Amino acid sequence: MACLGEDLLGVVNKLQDLVFNTIGSDSGLDLPQIVVVGSQSSGKSSVLENIVGRDFLPRGSGIVTRRPLILQLINIPNDEGSSAEPHTREGNSDQPEFGEFLHQPGRRYYDFSEIKREIEAETSRIAGNNKGINRAPINLKIYSPHVLSLTLVDLPGLTKVPIGDQPTDIEKQTRNLITEYIAKPNSIILAVSPANVDLVNSEALKLARQVDPQGKRTIGVLTKLDLMDHGTNALEILSGRVYPLKLGFIGVVNRSQQDIQGNKSLSEALKAEQEFFKFHPAYRNMAHRCGTQFLAKSLNSTLMQHIRDRLPDIKARLNTLMGQTQQELASYGDMHFSGKEHRGSLILQLMTRFASSFISSIDGTSSEIST
Ligand code: GDP
Ligand code: NA
Ligand code: MG
Repeated sequence: MACLGEDLLGVVNKLQDLVFNTIGSDSGLDLPQIVVVGSQSSGKSSVLENIVGRDFLPRGSGIVTRRPLILQLINIPNDEGSSAEPHTREGNSDQPEFGEFLHQPGRRYYDFSEIKREIEAETSRIAGNNKGINRAPINLKIYSPHVLSLTLVDLPGLTKVPIGDQPTDIEKQTRNLITEYIAKPNSIILAVSPANVDLVNSEALKLARQVDPQGKRTIGVLTKLDLMDHGTNALEILSGRVYPLKLGFIGVVNRSQQDIQGNKSLSEALKAEQEFFKFHPAYRNMAHRCGTQFLAKSLNSTLMQHIRDRLPDIKARLNTLMGQTQQELASYGDMHFSGKEHRGSLILQLMTRFASSFISSIDGTSSEIST
């Protein structure tokens, strides 16, 4: 993710590792996940792909995303020090990025177009070939020196009218599936609405409002600004005068179907997007608050705020954990250890030492986090 200070990136990634390795994922300490919601073909997968900065999601005009995709970005340290600028790194010789699916443990994908093909194949394997959706998620991890360790969720879009193999209650099923993901208080909701459809009809905002009525953890994303009728624009919405969201609305222009078929690269598309805003008579004065890169930046500050809000709780829980660990160690006393138990106690000791140094590093850092 772009625009995150190196120190903070390191601290957050260590925190993720610590929480994951010691307290586990059902501890109530889950760090934020970003969930993308919206109606079918509103541009959800396109937005997600732009945030990650890589081409790897199946996209198209039909129903393409038919199972939840839980995408875990995992930061791997770069030997020469990592650069957190995914959108400008093409062609340099960093630590290679790779993907790994939960359903294919140990198999590393270095070619992101193969990741795309595997998502398609795995979607069809469980959800069939004929438009059906399935709630069983596909889990994909992407290891990279350029990402903030973070979970992103891509979901099937809402559709009103069943087609193909879809059951008659497809809308309700999809709605329930989406609600399950966005109801979690640690979810940041990216509510995607296409600018060429009246915002009053936005399914994304209707759903987000049900779980986040005050609009505190919802970011409005307005796609397809390039497809609005000539003579109309979304200035009122983007200025926050139409629909109240604390985190506001951000306008983006993703690649069109034609761009995708013509293999337009992500960096070309980002450049074209910047020019669109810079030279558009309605948007040029707010161009610095529009587009994919600004969205990535906003997401980062929202995440930092979220982490800062949760630090006291995380620290309290780490302290408890350390107390428990020390008690456990003490209870071993002078017992004669077998090799295995001995190793266990060494690991506990190391963990405790790491946790306490980690808490002091949070203490040192928390006051410096600014948004
Ligand atoms: P999803 O179904 O919500 O995941 O939507 P996709 O990301 O798959 O996009 C659906 C279609 O809309 C694709 O053909 C995209 O190329 C196209 N699309 C998405 N965003 C934009 C945009 O901002 N402008 C244009 N012109 N097309 C877009
Ligand atoms: Na689609
Ligand atoms: Mg999609």
